Amino acid sequence: MGQPATVLDTIIDDLLDRTVLGGYTSLGYRLRQRSWPAAALQPMAGKVVMITGAASGLGLAAAAGFAKLGASVWLVVRSQARGEEALGALRGRGLGTGLQVGVCDLSDLGSVRRFAAGFQASGARLDVLVNNAGVLTRTRELSKNGIELTFAVNVVAPFLLTNLLLPRMISSAPARIINVASGGMYLQRLRVDDLQSERGHFDGAAAYARTKRAEVVLTELFAQRLDPASVAVHAMHPGWADTPGLRASLPGFHRLVGPLLRTAEQGADTIVWLGAAAEPAASSGRFWHDRRIRPTHVAGYAREGEADRERLWSACVELAGLSDRPLKRPWETSDGTLPSHS
Ligand SMILES: NC(=O)c1ccc[n+]([C@@H]2O[C@H](COP(=O)([O-])OP(=O)(O)OC[C@H]3O[C@@H](n4cnc5c(N)ncnc54)[C@H](OP(=O)(O)O)[C@@H]3O)[C@@H](O)[C@H]2O)c1
Repeated sequence: MGQPATVLDTIIDDLLDRTVLGGYTSLGYRLRQRSWPAAALQPMAGKVVMITGAASGLGLAAAAGFAKLGASVWLVVRSQARGEEALGALRGRGLGTGLQVGVCDLSDLGSVRRFAAGFQASGARLDVLVNNAGVLTRTRELSKNGIELTFAVNVVAPFLLTNLLLPRMISSAPARIINVASGGMYLQRLRVDDLQSERGHFDGAAAYARTKRAEVVLTELFAQRLDPASVAVHAMHPGWADTPGLRASLPGFHRLVGPLLRTAEQGADTIVWLGAAAEPAASSGRFWHDRRIRPTHVAGYAREGEADRERLWSACVELAGLSDRPLKRPWETSDGTLPSHS
């Protein structure tokens, strides 16, 4: 690490991306990291980072990365037991200070609201929110609120959590939101007339990829609605990393790519970089992989129109139970102004 990026590095990076297998595996990570400046990650003492799905995989690795930089980290997990396991794992690596466990089941919007209310009541600041938790199911399942589970956990719950925490982020500005998407979304188009995959045969991997497409579109829509100097919003994809989630949800793929998979730390690298480096503060609403902005579409058929994007936003407002708030900016104060972040 540490050699400045050359034109050759950029060409190699582009080639890796086009081959997919090269770019998404540990090979791509190892080749690209050679040109990353050692000082890119700034110290984070005094900053507060919240990570959903912090009990395992990329979330746990990102928590370790932020804790190493000195940030206080809220490990948001679905049960106290999972939180204690995560705490134990991090303490075992000498990262015990500044960690808090928050219990929030993203398949239950009541749990999201309770957690967000408790966090607001704690008075803590919030500098970085990482919406990382995600699921991929083989069969069509429903959340506690009757929403298709993948769409509920990957899209609606983070949408609600983000909206509820935005006032705190605005008052802690400059703040950042990082949404963990997937390269799988390149193959899928937003299907606004069937967001909950009710039609036809349920294909779990395709439904999952559509939720990741939705996450990227929502990232752009949040960025349009927020002052980037106050809260910058980004999405990223981690490549293919060896995590409990990947092993359980795609066992055949896990066996096939096996030794080439990234470690969880390599997959989480861009999450930590997006939260800690200076460069991501200069823009908002972008899609990143391996510390570089990537296109959001590679195939024309996957492009969505503006009307579909706004329909997605409205559907999320409705499903998250935010319809009683102003539709455009649900986090505005009652007189319609954005809270000050001085
Ligand atoms: N690994 C990859 O190659 C890869 C590639 C592309 C995108 N991603 C994305 O990366 C993110 C992290 O995935 P991962 O690979 O690290 O898998 P993981 O180890 O399974 O992590 C997912 C986390 O989400 C949590 N979670 C699931 N349902 C939840 C719920 N209802 N409420 C609260 N938390 C819940 C899980 O909690 P439990 O531990 O309690 O189950 C787990 O900690 C996901 O968004 C995934 O889509 C991963």
